[in-house]
Amino acid sequence: MTIFLTGSTGFLGRNLLNYLVKIQPHQPIVCLVRDLNKAKTQWPNPPANIRWLVGDLLQPESYREALQAAELVFHVAALVGLRNGDAFFTQNTEATRQLVEALTPSSRLQRLVFVSSISATDRDPASPATECMTEAFPPQPQTDYGRSKLQAEQLITASGLPYTIMVPAYIYGPHLRVGSSTDRLINDMKAGKRYTRFPFPGAISEIHVDDLSEALWIAATHPKTLNERFLISNPQPLSIVAAFATLAECLGLDHTFTPSPASHLERYRRQKSAPAANPILRRILWEHYFACSPAKWYQATGHQPQITFSEGVRKTLSHSAQGALPARSH
Ligand SMILES: NC(=O)c1ccc[n+]([C@@H]2O[C@H](COP(=O)([O-])OP(=O)(O)OC[C@H]3O[C@@H](n4cnc5c(N)ncnc54)[C@H](OP(=O)(O)O)[C@@H]3O)[C@@H](O)[C@H]2O)c1
Repeated sequence: MTIFLTGSTGFLGRNLLNYLVKIQPHQPIVCLVRDLNKAKTQWPNPPANIRWLVGDLLQPESYREALQAAELVFHVAALVGLRNGDAFFTQNTEATRQLVEALTPSSRLQRLVFVSSISATDRDPASPATECMTEAFPPQPQTDYGRSKLQAEQLITASGLPYTIMVPAYIYGPHLRVGSSTDRLINDMKAGKRYTRFPFPGAISEIHVDDLSEALWIAATHPKTLNERFLISNPQPLSIVAAFATLAECLGLDHTFTPSPASHLERYRRQKSAPAANPILRRILWEHYFACSPAKWYQATGHQPQITFSEGVRKTLSHSAQGALPARSH
């Protein structure tokens, strides 16, 4: 069995590759990479079953042959961000269209696993997010990123290929992208930014990248996941207060929440300053905006993420350059 992976030089793909080489040490794993040096820097001594294939999703001639020889395809690569811009449609929708077209004549394919995003489902901008999203929520993406990922999902669903679409909540873990929301939050906490001490009323769903990697493998191989779409996260949403407190504790920071009456929080919500200025971040902090239910996944596979946020943050910090800081007094 040959595995084909896109996005292996990114945050999730790199962790997924790490997982795949552990559980499939003898199966060839072909990784489409745009930058060979980046791949070699990440893997100075790669296991013998990894093959770097230099190419680009937008240039199918660079990978068609290898793709058609694969039984399992993990399509993880994307341009990621809670933003707008034509580049999202090129890198996410068009790139997926090219991959699907290059794959369509394949008779070997057993499963195409596509990593989508909760931004492709999203919510009604007019009503506050109070309940967990499920697969039954009508998709109404609010950003070009979300729209481009939804269009990619639709291309895969219509392709006739055997697929599983995985829709992760907020993902964190080792090898965080510099500038990612978690990376920024960690830096803001270290810098003692005021907003990290506010007891925001929101909650998010999260999943550690190791749990997600395991889920992606199950998605590729479990019969009940064929041609299905699943939201995937830890079973219960995590409050923003618990997330901030856990991060602070793991970073060794002396962190106390500012007593913030509702009126104070309401004033802050209207401020133009970051992070409250970004309407999506605002909803994440104040509502149950990125909260979702993985019940369908659990019912189909019996798999449940195991890593608690506290354990996951410790694992993340011990792997990354972020490192724990000595406690600081304020
Ligand atoms: N991070 C999250 O919290 C989150 C949450 C939900 C869903 N997701 C989904 O998870 C997936 C991975 O996200 P991530 O955070 O790991 O992103 P990332 O760190 O930015 O990695 C993106 C990867 O895609 C590759 N790539 C982009 N365009 C490409 C192209 N045209 N051809 C070949 N490779 C290309 C990048 O290659 P280079 O290294 O050459 O740039 C990189 O390896 C995405 O599908 C995203 O939508 C992420």
